[in-house]
Amino acid sequence: MNETILQAVNIQKYYGGRENLTKAVDRISFQVQKGEFLGIMGASGSGKTTLLNCISTIDTVTGGHIYVEGRDITKLKRAELAAFRGQKLGFIFQDFNLLDTLTARENIALPLSVSGTRPAEIERKVEHIAAALDISDVLGKFPYEMSGGQQQRVAAARAVVSDPAIILADEPTGSLDSGSSRMLLHLITDLNRRLGATILMVTHDAFTASCCRRILFIKDGKLFHELRRGEDNRAEFFTKILQVVSELGGEQDDFM
Ligand SMILES: Nc1ncnc2c1ncn2[C@@H]1O[C@H](COP(=O)(O)OP(=O)(O)O)[C@@H](O)[C@H]1O
Ligand SMILES: [Mg+2]
Repeated sequence: MNETILQAVNIQKYYGGRENLTKAVDRISFQVQKGEFLGIMGASGSGKTTLLNCISTIDTVTGGHIYVEGRDITKLKRAELAAFRGQKLGFIFQDFNLLDTLTARENIALPLSVSGTRPAEIERKVEHIAAALDISDVLGKFPYEMSGGQQQRVAAARAVVSDPAIILADEPTGSLDSGSSRMLLHLITDLNRRLGATILMVTHDAFTASCCRRILFIKDGKLFHELRRGEDNRAEFFTKILQVVSELGGEQDDFM
């Protein structure tokens, strides 16, 4: 059964004034269903980050509405914003942002501890996610005792442990070497498939995007095209993505 988790209606984000107006996001509307893995693609400067920042409430919109689980988050008061981000969003960063003085278990538990979840419940959730992400055996270790891949998984576990409505990732593989980047993509795919997480991932890279089930293409702040993976395997989907990228115009280098 489909359940709409995010509904963006006519989002606009303008920067500057009359003289130097930039329509970074120019009337974009779309919906995301629970459990979707959605990619957002476009050349550098097309408005991807701005769009994501509006959804995460890091930026305020110039116009339009964004509903998360039916609630218009563009209307939230300042005091409500932190609670919204803490309870409804998970972020995946390139650099893992783990706390050095906490064990993996404590790092993962952090969002739950902060929100006052009962210890037994915390324990249950941490164990469940650690098992799903194959990091049960490092729960007692500190970040410096773990491999890069294990640290990534711990950070991802922390992003999903509070069962956020949406997980946001902006160019998560942007500056990673190909090995780490493959690992992170595999992990994000796992979060989606094994844990049913709803993921919004911004990327300008066609290979990275080919992990997604659906992709929105953005050009000059506007929605340009949408692709669904359907029954395609990853290679077939990759080819279709490249085709849209070439129709989008601009430099191939911006995407590859
Ligand atoms: N804080 C800002 N002030 C003014 N212009 C901005 C700001 N942030 C982004 N922009 C402009 O908005 C457009 C979209 O930027 P951005 O969302 O970062 O694109 P992308 O993430 O696709 O590379 C660009 O033209 C950029 O220069
Ligand atoms: Mg960006």
